[in-house]
Amino acid sequence: MAVLLAGAAQVAPLDLIIDTDPGADDVVALLLAMASAEELNIRAITTVAGNVRLDKTSRNARLAREWGGREEIPVYAGAARPLLRSPVYAENVHGGEGLPGVAVHEPAQGLAEGSAVQYLVDTLSTAESHSITLAILGPQTNLALALIRAPAILRGIKEVVVMGGAHVNAGNITPVAEFNLYADAEAAEVVLSSGVKLTYLPLDVTHKVLTSDARLAQLAAVNNQASRRVVDILNAYIKADMQRYGMPGGPVHDASVIAYLIKPSLFSGRRVELQVDRRAGMTYGQTLVNEYTSTEQPGNVVWIEEADAQGVFDLLSTRLACLK
Ligand code: BDR
Ligand code: CA
Repeated sequence: MAVLLAGAAQVAPLDLIIDTDPGADDVVALLLAMASAEELNIRAITTVAGNVRLDKTSRNARLAREWGGREEIPVYAGAARPLLRSPVYAENVHGGEGLPGVAVHEPAQGLAEGSAVQYLVDTLSTAESHSITLAILGPQTNLALALIRAPAILRGIKEVVVMGGAHVNAGNITPVAEFNLYADAEAAEVVLSSGVKLTYLPLDVTHKVLTSDARLAQLAAVNNQASRRVVDILNAYIKADMQRYGMPGGPVHDASVIAYLIKPSLFSGRRVELQVDRRAGMTYGQTLVNEYTSTEQPGNVVWIEEADAQGVFDLLSTRLACLK
């Protein structure tokens, strides 16, 4: 059953928590979000181990906050390892520091006190009913732990928008699995089976939103510190995927989630029935997508498949121009 999507403009800013494992594309996503205060009210950034270890993803999230000039946004560190499996990192793509192409330093402002998981529990259990959106740009460990600790937090969540999975597109960490799902498939299952309203932006769509020389030149033409950093990060980050897939440009996966939240009309998808494979072996972390939904079986996630790629890069360059 092909459907949708509503492209309705947001009236009041969306109350948003960004859960992330920066990560090159996570940093681009964070800068895009921080430059979009009219649409997004970022309540907090929560970090998780993923692309690199937790201390580095937490440092990189604070660096992004510093670069975005949004020191009022708290950054909470979360899970240092997946629910059950051994940690898996993506240093081959994001570099040893998790942020290729730019120099990293210890940011002036530290982490917020307390753990990301407890922050999620406290915030979501006291929030107005279905009022807070979560953008999950890495493994879903933090939200899974919060749901296990306090299932009633579901009431506070409006929607969870995930970067993850692959169906038509092959996997990027195994032949069939996308990194964020492979890094903690058990966590993804906890979130999926909670019944929370879920939207996935899988590789199927993020591999359609590719950089090109012209798009990198468009970003460079903004010519402020933020855009220069983004171009330096992307030039270093996209190499691996361009070589691997023989593509003319590289994906900026996590930025697509933020672009979707700011301007959903740039994207389209449909309701599908999703299962996450957790069997040990070759298929661990694979997302199994059944497109044949019906009124009786309406599906459990919205699966985004198409995007106006140039529209996403126009949005990114316009918003970066608002930063220093
Ligand atoms: C996802 O995996 C990570 O390496 C990226 O940051 C992105 O969230 C893409 O598969
Ligand atoms: Ca990520």
